[in-house]
Amino acid sequence: RLRAVVKGVGSALPKRCVTNKELEKTVDTNDAWIVQRTGIMQRYIAGEGETTSTLGIAAARAALDNAGLAPDDIDLIVCATSTPDYTFPSTATMIQAGLGITRGVAFDLQAVCAGFVFAMSTAEKFLISGSHKRALVIGAETFSRILDWEDRTTCVLFGDGAGALVLEAQEEEGERPSGVLATCLRSDGRHRAKLYVDGGPSTTRTVGYLRMEGKEVFRFAVGQVTDVMADTFASANITAADLDWFVPHQANRRIIDASAQKFGIPPEKVVTTVQDHGNTSAASIPLALSVACEDGRIKPGDLVMIEAIGGGFTWGAAVIRW
Ligand code: ACO
Repeated sequence: RLRAVVKGVGSALPKRCVTNKELEKTVDTNDAWIVQRTGIMQRYIAGEGETTSTLGIAAARAALDNAGLAPDDIDLIVCATSTPDYTFPSTATMIQAGLGITRGVAFDLQAVCAGFVFAMSTAEKFLISGSHKRALVIGAETFSRILDWEDRTTCVLFGDGAGALVLEAQEEEGERPSGVLATCLRSDGRHRAKLYVDGGPSTTRTVGYLRMEGKEVFRFAVGQVTDVMADTFASANITAADLDWFVPHQANRRIIDASAQKFGIPPEKVVTTVQDHGNTSAASIPLALSVACEDGRIKPGDLVMIEAIGGGFTWGAAVIRW
């Protein structure tokens, strides 16, 4: 039996870091409000020449280095993004070209903030079928480019960045096999109006701005995320107490705390980067995984849960043994 095993992780952030204090100069907001409601203290904002694909390429290179692999070793690229460089071609094919890869397949996947969980689950299915050997799973975003910078209820919440994971198909070994152990994905399109972008090629012919009913998203997020986490624990045949690390989508400190508390996951097992990155949508989980691997928290053999919810709504969770 094949498993999709993590071989490497990497990330990339834009050069420019913007603190809450800096935002106070251009938006009617204040550091205390942002920190108290969200936990966010700063975020990185893409500048001239920095795009979703350039960040994705940098993150992919870092993940390949971490795995000790070359671009040519990759035969599958799945890039989760809602902020592609262009309507088409896909950002994944731009990343493929940027890495100099000319074989295999590359495509984008759009599930907004849940994009990375969807992309990882999709890549896992390719790998365990035996059709592909090594995948780059990337979450890359430049949400700053779809923010209405005059809307203080949304523009303070998001940031830009990218993260990537290298997964490899390997024969399962031993009683505690490494790799992706379970994934659960859900969506429900009835909630479109709570979180959406008010533009697009087929409607307004514009890119549009992000619009959100924050309270509604908050309420739905905590309820549904904990539901899909419970199903993922059952599917992996583990309980929350077995986890070494909980790496949730980094949207908001209060959503993260509420989800962890519901399962009795202690704060020291929760990886939180929202204070440094803001909400980077599909990039937030691989960015957080990258931080926690680099500082030595996540180690081989550790049991890790990731979970996310995004526009649509779309949501999901996965359990991985590192
Ligand atoms: N600075 C200062 N004041 C603000 C700001 C701001 N940036 N934004 C809103 N306010 C004001 C509002 O105008 C309102 O003032 P009023 O009472 O005079 O009308 C007051 O603050 C309270 O606003 P609420 O919207 O009620 O604030 P709430 O406590 O609900 O917090 C927040 C808003 C942080 C968005 C919260 O609803 C939330 O966390 N929602 C979850 C949404 C989320 O995280 N989305 C991320 C994207 S989706 C995803 O990733 C899944």
